[in-house]
Order: sequence, then structure tokens, then C-alpha cells
Amino acid sequence: MKVLVIGSGGREHALVWKLRQSPRVSKVYCAPGNGGIAGEAECLPTDIKNVETLLALAHQLRPDLTVVGPELPLTLGVVDEFTQRGYRIFGPTKAAAQLESSKSFAKEFLQRHHIPTAHYAICNSADDVHDALPHFHTPIVVKADGLAAGKGVVICKSKEEAASVSADMLSGKMLGEAGSRVVLEECLVGEELSFLVMSDGERVAALAAAQDHKRVGDGDTGPNTGGMGAYSTSTLVDDQMRNWLLQHVARPVVDGMKAEGMEYKGVLYCGLMMTAKGPMVLEFNCRFGDPETQPILMRLESDLAEALEASIEGRVSEGDFRWSTDASVCIVMASGGYPGAFEAGKKIIGLEEAGRLEGVKVFHAGTSARDGACYTAGGRVLGITARAADLQTAVSRAYDAASMIGFEGAHYRKDIAARALKVK
Ligand code: AMP
Ligand code: GLY
Repeated sequence: MKVLVIGSGGREHALVWKLRQSPRVSKVYCAPGNGGIAGEAECLPTDIKNVETLLALAHQLRPDLTVVGPELPLTLGVVDEFTQRGYRIFGPTKAAAQLESSKSFAKEFLQRHHIPTAHYAICNSADDVHDALPHFHTPIVVKADGLAAGKGVVICKSKEEAASVSADMLSGKMLGEAGSRVVLEECLVGEELSFLVMSDGERVAALAAAQDHKRVGDGDTGPNTGGMGAYSTSTLVDDQMRNWLLQHVARPVVDGMKAEGMEYKGVLYCGLMMTAKGPMVLEFNCRFGDPETQPILMRLESDLAEALEASIEGRVSEGDFRWSTDASVCIVMASGGYPGAFEAGKKIIGLEEAGRLEGVKVFHAGTSARDGACYTAGGRVLGITARAADLQTAVSRAYDAASMIGFEGAHYRKDIAARALKVK
């Protein structure tokens, strides 16, 4: 089977790495890929923001299966277009991907289906914000309605700040079209959890859970990023909680989407806050998480290609996933300045030595390969991932590997999974 993976991040590198382990997969293409993926798949320079270009690539390569990493092609309807032309593709349709592409859609859906989430107000204008603010306590979370690559959420300490951030979003100054509508939300307190499930539109199977670290700095300080590191263990979510989340969150979403004529196929990423009152949905993503996918796939022992096909063919079953009881962790090494402005083109050293450490796999994100060397080419550069029988050993392995890799301006959090280790 020939597989085409769309995307260029650490998540896509992990997908390519895992798909290549499948005896069913004979060839992996990646569009456009990155410096690390280039060593494991045939990379094809492609503008993934353009569905026509992706279709042209499919006509050329004739893949038996296409896997979409990032949200943008999904929200542009790549699954609808590929499916219409007879290409088997993994992921939700444009209509179903609204769970991620519109926060107001997601919030109204959650309310209609009685799925626990924060109290909210949808605002189309400064007047709407003014009318809604008296109904909130501070801090208040202001969210851009549309896609904003992790930069569309601001936690505001005062109502004045919430009004001013909303105004900046609504004016288009801050995030363009994505902010033309905003959602105000009650601020929730607790541990975050990334609970991913696989669906075929009807059946749902839980994947291994993970915890992301969204803030740029140690101790959860500084601005939000796409994710600075994640870990996954078999004890992060116990059986009782997993069943609760399936029953009260994942299944009602999949059933509700089907009932509303927008069958949800693919990975449904439920971003949760585990509050004192119970789990509440912060957001949905319509795809695998990045960096969660790196540690999650490190623990997957069964065939990923088979699982993706099961979603397309309507035969998802939890029994088809086999997970190692090992723990895994991914440390994101980022460019100086990220999540703000950064410079690219810095030479990366130490990759080979680090990759030789036991249990370590260095997934590439923003890198490009040139003349046998690797250079930085994005904000999140590498996802240094390690697996071991226990979380402490996995964390030590990942940090040992990180300490061997360098490039000018490199930074990474030193406390990934630290809270989980302290609790033990
Ligand atoms: P979202 O894109 O909605 O997941 O938001 C990104 C991040 O902002 C989440 O992972 C949380 O860290 C934070 N966040 C979002 N909504 C809330 C909320 N209602 N209360 C507290 N933190 C939030
Ligand atoms: N790690 C969060 C995301 O994939 O959106």
C-alpha cells in the first residue's frame, strides 16, 4: 500500500515513522515533509493550503491511503474532495471539522448535546462584548472564533483587558479573519488532558491519553504555544475515567454529529480541563495533536495503517489498538524567540549521537536538510521523544538526548512531566 502523509511537523514525522513499521505499507510519501522526514519518506514540495494542488499530487502519486496531519487542509475540505474522486483519505469532512475551525460552532454544539464545558458568550461586536461582560467573573478567557495556531486564546485578568483584547481581535488587527467573532469563556482551573479517540462516524475507540504543556516557559509561564512537550503513560487516565470520558464526551460528540448530518470520521482530539467539578471540554481538534502524537505513537504496538483504514471503512474497534505499558515523553526544542518572531537557517548539531541513545527517537518539525546537514526552518524545531518502562527513565533519556543537540538560540522547557513525577 502507498501512503501519502500531508504536513511538515513533528506529528507528521511520527506518523511517517509509525506507518513505515506496518507490513502493509510499501511506500510513504510526505507533502511537503521536513529535513528529518526526508530520510524516511519521499518528500514532495507542496502548498498544503491549496486543495487543488493536493488533488493534483494525488492524481500523480495515486496513494492507496492519505493521512492529513494539520487542521488547515481538513477545514478547507480536502477529505470531501479526495473522497469524491475515489481516494481513500483519513480524517473528517469540512463540515465535521467545524468542531475545530469554529469555536462558536463547537460551544453551541456542546451546549445542544449537554456535554460539560465552560460558561460562554459568543460576540460579534464590541457591543456584544459590553453586554456579556457583566455575566462573567474574572479572569475571563477571550478566544478568537477561527483557526489561530494556538495564538487565539488570551486569559484576561480584568474586564477592561477582556474588552480591549476582544476589540483587537474583532477589528482584525490581531488575528485577521479568525478574530471577526470572539467567544468569552469562564476561566477553568485544573490539570489539562488531551483525550484522543478514533471514530468511524459511529464507533469510537480511545487512544492512549497524553498531557501537553502549552505555555512556553517552565512552571507554565509565558505565552501559549502550539505545545512545548507532552507525555503519555498508562496511568494518566484510569479505566473508570476513560469510560466516563467516552460516555459523556466522545460518544455524545460522534452521535450528535451523526444526528446533525455531519458524520465525524478520524481522530477527535478532546482538550479537557480536569476541574474540581469534573472534566470539562476546552476545545476540540479534528486531528492528531502535536506534540501529543509523538509520545502516543511511541507507545502504540499495533498497526497504525490498519487503524486508519478501519476508520475509513467503518470498523473501528478498541481491541485493535495495543498499547505498551511503557511511558513516553516528548520535549520540544524551539527556535530563539518562539512563539514570537524567530530566525531560521541555524545549523543543528548532535542529531545522530542523540538519536543513538536507547529508547530515543528525535522527530523533526521545523527543519530542512541541505548538503548532509540539518538547519532550523520553523518555530518548533525538534520533538525529542523517549520511551522507557517508567516515566522518570523516559524523561531522563529525553533530556539526555536534548542536552546533546544544539543550535543557536535553541530553547526547551526543563519541566515536561515534572508534575506527574512529583505526584508519585
Ligand atoms: P484552546 O485553543 O481553546 O484549547 O485553548 C488553548 C489553551 O488555552 C488551552 O489548552 C488552555 O491552556 C487555555 N484555555 C482555553 N480555554 C480555557 C478556559 N476556559 N479556562 C482556562 N484555560 C483555558
Ligand atoms: N498540542 C495541541 C494541538 O495539537 O493543538
